[in-house]
Amino acid sequence: MRTQVGIVGAGPAGLMLAHLLGRAGVESIIVEAKSRKHVEERVRAGVLEQGTVDLMVESGVGGRLRDQGLVHRGLELRFGGRGHRIDLSDLTGGRTITIYGQNELVKDLTDARIAAGGEIFFESDEVAIHGFESDASAIRFRSRGEPREIRCDFIAGCDGFHGVCRASIPSAALKIYERVYPFAWLGILAAVAPSSDEVIYSHHERGFALHSMRSPELTRLYLQCAPEEDLANWSDDRIWGELQARFETIDGWRLRRGPIVQKGVTGMRSFVAEPMRYGSLYLAGDAAHIVPPTGAKGLNLAIADVRCLARALDAHYRGRGDAMLDEYSAVCLRRVWKVQRFSWWMTSMLHRFEDANPFDVRRQLAELDYVTSSRIGAQSLAENYVGLPLD
Ligand code: APR
Ligand code: PHB
Repeated sequence: MRTQVGIVGAGPAGLMLAHLLGRAGVESIIVEAKSRKHVEERVRAGVLEQGTVDLMVESGVGGRLRDQGLVHRGLELRFGGRGHRIDLSDLTGGRTITIYGQNELVKDLTDARIAAGGEIFFESDEVAIHGFESDASAIRFRSRGEPREIRCDFIAGCDGFHGVCRASIPSAALKIYERVYPFAWLGILAAVAPSSDEVIYSHHERGFALHSMRSPELTRLYLQCAPEEDLANWSDDRIWGELQARFETIDGWRLRRGPIVQKGVTGMRSFVAEPMRYGSLYLAGDAAHIVPPTGAKGLNLAIADVRCLARALDAHYRGRGDAMLDEYSAVCLRRVWKVQRFSWWMTSMLHRFEDANPFDVRRQLAELDYVTSSRIGAQSLAENYVGLPLD
């Protein structure tokens, strides 16, 4: 088989890239290790920046998102037993965020790709990439036991943090920047109406907690836990009790409880691999960088990368030269590092650090007080939260 762009991974990055390329008339094929069902049901993040929503709508895959996405104009920071609203819209000239599960976005993009006749090899085994240092790029894999090869001009490594693409680049050619946090998030999905209309980030001496949602009937909640937390130690009652304690307010706020339909533990790390290109291999999304989930940026950053990559590849195939491809890594990394800074800052401000002394805790509270009482402080948070400009 031959195509123009071989894409490894059918997560948000790989699917959006294939979709945008298809609209520009550039051919691609996706190779994915997991099944379609697995990819579409994986519960992940759920906050879309304005720019991500705009891209979905402009590129013709925003129908369900517009019907079912929950548009939010603000969020709450809770600390010291009180809630403080950040009016995202007012602070950013009317911009908003939209709550829409990553798996829903993945479904929309997969449907669009398949409807457009695009090829996705799900459940591929032994995926390996070759020849990207020279002009002989290829993806080799097994599909239903049969060996396959896709020869291509470019390979897009959209295969997430544990994928094969970044790992195939000689380690001397990459510089890795990393910070692993001494905690994780225990996340649940509960079949109960959200307890608030907006997302709540709560700083509490017992640890951080987050209230989010997926729909008017589904609440998504997280609590800070140990990095290797064993879910077996967390009965539903213990989870609800701990969440209630961490969201407590002086006026007796109550968290609605309901059946827990999904539970999981997510580690927290900041990670960047530079550069995001090696020969004709281009990395995008989690394959190149990871942010801790506190600013809800991972998905949006992946989408920003492939928007840039799709434009650069489009320019190449239209004979407009390779300047954009040459600048791809540098252009993406400018945004990546600003988003890294924001995600690290939100994480540091809101979590309980075991080694923090009383000074550190006071400083965290002062930071929260500043951000919620100064328009300039709040505006900086809001500008980053709704998403930095894409161009
Ligand atoms: N071969 C083929 N596919 C692979 C391989 C492999 N060797 N390894 C991983 N994959 C697939 C995974 O199964 C997954 O479907 O690559 C896809 C990568 O998707 P994501 O991990 O969702 O990464 P990305 O598309 O960059 O999206 C980033 O996802 O992890 C969240 O928080 C993150 O929201 C962010 C977003
Ligand atoms: C989510 O809804 O899953 C979510 C919301 C905000 C975050 C992270 C995750 O910062």
